[in-house]
Amino acid sequence: MKPRIVIVGAGRAGGALALALREVGYEIAAVVSRSPSSARRLAEWVESDRWSDRPEELAPSGDVVILSVPDGAISQVCARIAERGGFRKGQVVAHLSGALPAGVLSPAGEAGAYVLSMHPIQTLAEPKIGAERLRGAYFSLEGDPEALAVGRRMVEDIGGRVLELPEGAKVLYHTALCIASNYLVALADAAMGVLRAVGVEPQEGLQAILPLLQGTLKNLGEVGLPKALTGPIVRGDVDTVRAHLVALSERASEFSELYRTLGRYTVEVARRAGLEEGSVEELSALLAPSGG
Ligand SMILES: NC(=O)c1ccc[n+]([C@@H]2O[C@H](COP(=O)([O-])OP(=O)(O)OC[C@H]3O[C@@H](n4cnc5c(N)ncnc54)[C@H](OP(=O)(O)O)[C@@H]3O)[C@@H](O)[C@H]2O)c1
Repeated sequence: MKPRIVIVGAGRAGGALALALREVGYEIAAVVSRSPSSARRLAEWVESDRWSDRPEELAPSGDVVILSVPDGAISQVCARIAERGGFRKGQVVAHLSGALPAGVLSPAGEAGAYVLSMHPIQTLAEPKIGAERLRGAYFSLEGDPEALAVGRRMVEDIGGRVLELPEGAKVLYHTALCIASNYLVALADAAMGVLRAVGVEPQEGLQAILPLLQGTLKNLGEVGLPKALTGPIVRGDVDTVRAHLVALSERASEFSELYRTLGRYTVEVARRAGLEEGSVEELSALLAPSGG
């Protein structure tokens, strides 16, 4: 039998997960949120007739309690439920944070529950669209072995995939995701900045580079690393890289250091892709920090 779920935090991630679980036959036993109206709205969507703004009253009705509140509120909400006797032995208590470990749920653990960090590696802007995006998404799982088994089953049931993390890995793991997602957006912004220096408006520039970004992502999926790397560095085209640096210093010098820093890293990727040592050395020297 599938475990009954209680959602605490009827926002974007909690809503998406509740809808995805309901869709594959899980019973959402209750929905709790800070405001009763949020709790009630999600309860209606997932066909639950129990909602509240008092988590300790409804948490006991779940085999799995998912604390889908903002990261900064997880410890406090967990402690409140524990203090008021809302957890029971053998329950699984999970949170959805990318950065926090399962250990922040220790008050639930002390009450006899098994704790779990269950982070969807997906961006969830709205519950209904988010539920669709969770199908096929990876979830990282970390926590007590009993909770990991339950988490794995939930993830696989909704069509997701599991990335199991050892204890102590969460912060560095989250750093990697931040590089992959947030820095990609920042890089797109930097490319716009350089285009602006030659008179291309940001809106048009973004439209122009989107197919390039999408093609690059597709290459990553299809041929993987380091083969997805194309361009002057992996070709060993030193003159082109030198010309880039001169153009940047003349017309968009605020992007010079970023270009050099990422360039040096790109040389290492190119080395793995087979760039010969002579070119590696020449490019590394060319891309050295300008102050050094
Ligand atoms: N959104 C994403 O893309 C995403 C992706 C992966 C992981 N996550 C994780 O999911 C968790 C929730 O993030 P979110 O984006 O879903 O945030 P959100 O949309 O702001 O939703 C948080 C919900 O928690 C409720 N809440 C806040 N404080 C509360 C409290 N003290 N007691 C009970 N409910 C409380 C809010 O209630 P009211 O609406 O009732 O005021 C809100 O509905 C975070 O740990 C986040 O790191 C989010």
